[in-house]
Amino acid sequence: MRFDTKASRMFIAAMIASVAAFLQAGVTTAKPFASCAHMPLERSTAYNPQTKRIDIPWRTDLPTALPLNADHAWSNTELSDWRAYMAAVLEEVKRGDLSIHDQTISMRSDAQWWISPWMDYTANGRERNLGLTRERSPDPGDLAPGSPGKLQVWAVGFYNQEGAYALSQVFAQPCDPSVPTADWTFPANSASFKLLFTNATNTQVPYLDGAPVVLAFIDKPGGGREEQTLRLLQVDIAVQDPRSATKWVFGTFVWKGPKAGDGLFQNLVPVGLMWGNDPTADTQSRGDFAVLAETRLNHDLEGIVWRGPNQTWDERPWPGFQGRLNGPADNLRSSCMSCHALAQWPRSKALGIVPRGPNFTLDALNAKVARDELREKYLKNVVGGKLTLPSEAVAETGWDGATSLDYSLQLEAAFSRLCRACKDGALQGPTPRVCRVQGAMDYIATAVCPALSPMGGVILSDSASDDEPLPRQ
Ligand code: HEC
Repeated sequence: MRFDTKASRMFIAAMIASVAAFLQAGVTTAKPFASCAHMPLERSTAYNPQTKRIDIPWRTDLPTALPLNADHAWSNTELSDWRAYMAAVLEEVKRGDLSIHDQTISMRSDAQWWISPWMDYTANGRERNLGLTRERSPDPGDLAPGSPGKLQVWAVGFYNQEGAYALSQVFAQPCDPSVPTADWTFPANSASFKLLFTNATNTQVPYLDGAPVVLAFIDKPGGGREEQTLRLLQVDIAVQDPRSATKWVFGTFVWKGPKAGDGLFQNLVPVGLMWGNDPTADTQSRGDFAVLAETRLNHDLEGIVWRGPNQTWDERPWPGFQGRLNGPADNLRSSCMSCHALAQWPRSKALGIVPRGPNFTLDALNAKVARDELREKYLKNVVGGKLTLPSEAVAETGWDGATSLDYSLQLEAAFSRLCRACKDGALQGPTPRVCRVQGAMDYIATAVCPALSPMGGVILSDSASDDEPLPRQ
C-alpha cells in the first residue's frame, strides 16, 4: 500500500505543524489564545516578543452552550425608554468589573464577555497590550470643532455568552471557520460592547477632559508600532432584540469630562439608541435633522459631539446621517445600522460598507438627488440575517454569492484577516473555506494556502496589507 498521495503528505505536514505548535504552545502560552495551530504565534500582531507569548488579557474560551438563565434586564425595557435600555446593557458590562486604571483595562477573569478569534493579523490587527484593533481615522473636524485629521482610533469589542456561543459555532474549527448559510443569525439577546480609544488630546477634543488613559502599541509615523497613550472616547453597544424590526438595537456613549468621582461609568453619557434607519425620513435641505422614529438622541450633546445652533462646525452637522445615530468616531454619512447591516461575506461589491466617493461628499449631498441615492442604497431597514442587496446572494461569474453575517462586522474582519494570513503564507495548510468563496477580497483558488515566500523572508503582515480597507470607514 502507498501512502504517498498528496492528501496524506498534507495530513502528515499538518500533524507535524500542529505537534510543533502544541509543543511551542506548551512552553510559551500561559492563557491559551483560541488560535489556530497552523499560524506561528509570532505572526500574530498580538505577539509579545519579550515574553514570546500572546498576553492580551481577555477570555477566548468561547462558550459551547447558551446560558441556562438568560435573564436580561433590557428585555423588560421598552426600546423607547432608551436611556433605561442602554443603562441595562451597561449594568451587564459592570458585572464583569470592567475598569480602566494604571493605564490598562481590566475585567474579572470569569467575566461573561469574550473576544473574537482571528482579529490579530494585518496592519489593523490586535495590538499586543490590550488586543485593540485599528479603526477608521477620523476626518478633520469629526471629533470636535477644529480637531485634526490623521488621529488614530483603536478599539476592542466583546460578546456576551449568547454572542460568543454563536462565535464558537462559526469557529468550531479555529483554522477553518464555517461560512454562515443564508438566514443564519445570532441567538436572541446576543450582546456586544466595544471600547474605542483615540490618541487625540483633551486640548484637541475638550470633552476628553479627565478621560481614562491606556498604553497600547499603535502605529508610529513611518511604520511599525510603538507604545502610546490613548484616551477613552466612545463605548458602543449592540443587542440582538427580537422586538426590533431589524432584530438589532445599537447604542453609544461618549466619555464626557470633567471626571466625576473615580469611576468610569459616571462619565459615560448616552449619545443615543437606534433600532432602524428610518428609510423614508427625508429633509428639505442637507443640514437639517430628519424627523426619526427609530433613533433617539441625547440633545444635551448638541454643540459638543455635533453642531449646535449658532455654532460654526460645518464638518459635523449631525452625529450620523441627518440625525441617525453614530458616535464621534464614526462616518457622519452613515449610521451604526447602515454600516453593520452590510456585514456579509463577501463584502458587498456594490456598496462596500459606507457611502464614499465623489457622489457622497458633504458638498455633493447638497443635491437632493444625491441624498436620495444615499438613503435608498444605505439607509434601508435590513432584517438581521438578510442582505442589504438581496440580489448579491445570486452567484455570477467571479462571485459565488454573498450571505449575511447578521450585523457582525467582527466576523467580517476576522474572515478577511484569516484569508490575508493564508494568502501571505502566514497561515499554513488547507485554505479555509471562507477564502474559497469567489468575491472575497483575498479569494484563494488553491486548496492549500500559498507557501511562505521562497525568498525565505517572512512577509511582514504590516507591509503586506497596504490595500486593506480600514475596518470602520
Ligand atoms: C462605517 C462602518 C461602521 C459604523 C458607522 C459603525 N461601526 Fe460598529 N463596527 C464596524 C466594524 C468594521 C467593526 C468590526 C471591527 C472591530 O470591532 O474593530 C465594528 C464592530 C462593532 C461592534 C462589535 C461587534 C460587531 O458587531 O462586530 C459593536 C458593538 C459596534 N461596532 C457598535 C457600533 C455602534 C453602536 C455604532 C454607532 C454608534 C457603530 N458600531 C458604527 C464598523 C462600523
